[in-house]
Amino acid sequence: MTTLAILTAAGSGTRLGRDVPKALVELGGVPMVALAARGLADSGVVDALVVTSPAGRSAEIRTAVGSLEVDVRVVDGGGTRQASVAAGLGLAGPDVDVVLVHDAARPLTSPETVRRVVAAVRDGHRAVVPGLPVTDTIKRVVPDDGAPSGAHGRPGPVAERVVDTPDRTVLRAVQTPQGFDRELLVRAHTEGASRAAAEHLAATDDAALVEALDEPVHVVVGDPEALKITTERDLALAILLLEDR
Ligand code: CTP
Ligand code: MG
Repeated sequence: MTTLAILTAAGSGTRLGRDVPKALVELGGVPMVALAARGLADSGVVDALVVTSPAGRSAEIRTAVGSLEVDVRVVDGGGTRQASVAAGLGLAGPDVDVVLVHDAARPLTSPETVRRVVAAVRDGHRAVVPGLPVTDTIKRVVPDDGAPSGAHGRPGPVAERVVDTPDRTVLRAVQTPQGFDRELLVRAHTEGASRAAAEHLAATDDAALVEALDEPVHVVVGDPEALKITTERDLALAILLLEDR
């Protein structure tokens, strides 16, 4: 029984807009990828780690992760998150029965959350995601081509039209790490491989590829502090949460 964690860190962090890849940006003096790796290692249920690196940055990523109690390998990621996960999955040998996929962009994920996900997979649920209730009211929209234009022919303030309002009580905001039976995740990535090349087609999480196989995906309670760092505002908030620990 071996659990391998794939830690995705190959993104460029365009929306954060720094001159280094997002995974190397520091919180309290520690690179995001190192914090995320430590959370996985500290869970005590991860045996090995594969970190996906931006091309040409693997030495920096390895140095940033530093030494951990688990075996760490670094692999070049791909052009999309899905392609990066597939590259990491290529290093999961037949000895691996459970695979976790986690984002360096969620450096505050607690070891308890990691253990909860792995426990659910080991309990027989072959695909497991951490999820949180949604507090905002969510609306589904479409582009509104018929919107009246604003003054002087400039685009008006209205660009979209609401289609419907899904019942909030049945929605979950899902996080990582997501946990899978290795064979199921490999099949999901193989079947979904044609989507991996382009950002607009690629799956934004691994569970979606499993759902596409019509295989069940289960939810465990997520981690309210494990926010995803996308913008400078998220980073500022994460630094405050980290200082509070
Ligand atoms: N990721 C990856 N390979 C890619 C793209 C993303 O491994 N080709 C990783 C990122 O490093 C991150 C996670 O997937 O840990 C989630 O992606 P996201 O938050 O979108 O990060 P970036 O793609 O780096 O950011 P942006 O979209 O703003 O460029
Ligand atoms: Mg991205």
